Amino acid sequence: MVKRAGGALLLGIDIDHGSARPLSTQLTVILRDLILDGSFAAGDRLPASRTLARDLGLSRTTVIEAFERLVAEGLVESRVGAGTFVAGVLRTERPLPVPAAQAASLTARKPKLSRAMAAAMAAFAPRQRLPHAPRAFVTGLPALDAFPMAQWARLSAKHWRRQRDTVMGYGEACGHPLLRRAIAGHLRANRGIACETEQIFVTGGAQQAFHLIGTVLLDPGDKVWFENPGPIGARNSMVANGAELVPLPVDEEGLCVAAGLAASRQFRLAFVTPSHQQPLGSVMSLERRFALLHAAEQAGAWVVEDDYDGEFFFGNRPLPTLKSVDATGRVIYVGTFSKSLFPSLRLGFMLAPPALVDTFAAMMSAYLPGVPSCTQEVAAEFIADGHFSAHIRRMRRLYAERHAALRDAAKPRLDGLLAIEEADSGLHTIGHLGAGLAERDAASAAEKQGVSVSPIARFAIAPVAVRGLVLGFGGIKPPEIRAGVETLAQVLERLVLRRAS
Ligand SMILES: Cc1ncc(COP(=O)(O)O)c(C=O)c1O
Repeated sequence: MVKRAGGALLLGIDIDHGSARPLSTQLTVILRDLILDGSFAAGDRLPASRTLARDLGLSRTTVIEAFERLVAEGLVESRVGAGTFVAGVLRTERPLPVPAAQAASLTARKPKLSRAMAAAMAAFAPRQRLPHAPRAFVTGLPALDAFPMAQWARLSAKHWRRQRDTVMGYGEACGHPLLRRAIAGHLRANRGIACETEQIFVTGGAQQAFHLIGTVLLDPGDKVWFENPGPIGARNSMVANGAELVPLPVDEEGLCVAAGLAASRQFRLAFVTPSHQQPLGSVMSLERRFALLHAAEQAGAWVVEDDYDGEFFFGNRPLPTLKSVDATGRVIYVGTFSKSLFPSLRLGFMLAPPALVDTFAAMMSAYLPGVPSCTQEVAAEFIADGHFSAHIRRMRRLYAERHAALRDAAKPRLDGLLAIEEADSGLHTIGHLGAGLAERDAASAAEKQGVSVSPIARFAIAPVAVRGLVLGFGGIKPPEIRAGVETLAQVLERLVLRRAS
């Protein structure tokens, strides 16, 4: 306790002499709080340093050091011969700290959001993220166990040995030139897309590309044709941009364009996963692709092609991308390295049609700082050195093996419980539940036993006819796939027995 000094203050100051925190820092913080909470008013004189030092058992140097820090922060002023005073600026109107009890109730209160985000919050779905640990049958994960880490580490080390001026400054907002060039080359050689480097924009994953596209092209209430069931992250991005989603059924030929025309001939954007529908796995037929492009042209709409795992086919060579047959210039192609390399990179890209190149370039240069250049440069070299194509070829074989492991284990063990659909591309497939089994019951009972399967309904924005589970296999080793099938079989058998009893 410090008695008045040079004025009329009685302060409760508690210095912890045993603390590792320097004494002068402790004193600075305490005095700063007393000034800011109004215990010391503007113009008040602080106790003299000698008095304060004596009463607190501190050296005078410590007290002077604290005063000097407060002077440097502008909270107190030192007047020669007169003492140290709380700065006059604190007379200005300012928010005083909220008392603790009130602060707790403030955090409990809902913040006021923009109208767009308040509406989106209500529409976002589902709240819980899918699990992302590599265990049976988590979706969306590539084979992390098979990634050539040593090569990646070598290229990263090489990057950081370059000149500081080159690697430490701000990068290019639209993407590292080497990576943009490498992506354009890859798309030309492997995805049948004729494109120029300037059309490529590097983003923080495909997800950021979806969001930017929505920001640039959508007005609140604009109609967006959307696959039902369809990808969750992309859906949430569209919703956040005020889209009014038009849920359209998906069959073995992909998005039902006729249903779209019947529901809403006018639309602003269509979002599709034509190479491997998420989550059902169908490939959009050429007829549907042309029908979609025609519908978009008629409506003056854009089409977003999400080619998230199109590289990984292991059956017959699939149809080329939608973008490769786009004569309308209305398709914005989006790719990601989350499956072809690994998701923590947060690296994706969009290929803008010529009419949108200047807009995206201006927008990104105006306010987006870009994606870390180290990641971009390493990815660019990984592609240029041929590691990328080699990795993709290896992964096609590996995913074929993992798919076969799932199919072979499931055939005898899940018969009548879950009919697994044969896939010939991608990292996941679906299973149709046997009679009487409910999606959500199956998924939650399996989760309790350490096996993750997603109900198809989780991907739906309106009721869907198909009833089943989504099972990832790409990121899971065959022994774990077989053990997962066994656990799933036991879980489903128990549910069937419970229903029968
Ligand atoms: C349909 C779909 N598109 C794109 C992505 C990739 O998104 P990102 O590049 O942001 O990781 C995913 C991720 O699982 C996905 O499921």
